[in-house]
Amino acid sequence: MKQFAPACERNQDAILAVLKEILPDTGTVLEIGSGTGQHAAYFAARLPNLAWQPSDLDRMLPSIRAWAAEAGVPNLREPVVLDLCSDAWPMAAVQAIVCINTVHIVAWPTVEKLFANAGRALTTGGVMYVYGAYRYADRELEPSNEEFDRWLRERDPSSGLRDFEAVNGLAAAAGLRLRGDRAMPANNRSIWWEKA
Ligand SMILES: C[S@@+](CC[C@H](N)C(=O)[O-])C[C@H]1O[C@@H](n2cnc3c(N)ncnc32)[C@H](O)[C@@H]1O
Repeated sequence: MKQFAPACERNQDAILAVLKEILPDTGTVLEIGSGTGQHAAYFAARLPNLAWQPSDLDRMLPSIRAWAAEAGVPNLREPVVLDLCSDAWPMAAVQAIVCINTVHIVAWPTVEKLFANAGRALTTGGVMYVYGAYRYADRELEPSNEEFDRWLRERDPSSGLRDFEAVNGLAAAAGLRLRGDRAMPANNRSIWWEKA
């Protein structure tokens, strides 16, 4: 039931530091692709003024529930099913969306849906945050990320590291303005936008 991802323990403090800086003081954060539920439990406990709403495909909900039960944090909501392939999102009018290490997993048409629907679900001034590895037109991909990209594509040809410029284009089309793009440990990025 309760799954464990070592990467979450490695990246959670660096991500939390950025979230503390960029998330609104109050409101609801919709986390997309919550995975094991580790991040949801960790972040909700440390951001007590925000309601943290985890989501993922149905098969991940038992693990998210198990982490939530152990954390016993009042501002952590019951996880909901949110399949990025669908336009029927279970939430609207959220103040922030957090999506960690999921953009390179889902297929590109699904990334397109993610941004289009995020633009609709966020309230004005809301924050869209993604974390993960990205390609940039003006520089070589780091060797560790080249290897990661190869591994992703061998596992599933529709997965793979995304071009920052293409993702930023989707965000712009959805009414999201780029607010930050920061280097993170292990050649990852924190990128965030604000709903205009
Ligand atoms: C690499 S994991 C990242 C999980 C978590 N955010 C983390 O950092 O550990 C990618 C996540 O995307 C989720 N996912 C895959 N396809 C999805 C879809 N169509 N809709 C929503 N989530 C999806 C998976 O279930 C998984 O939890």
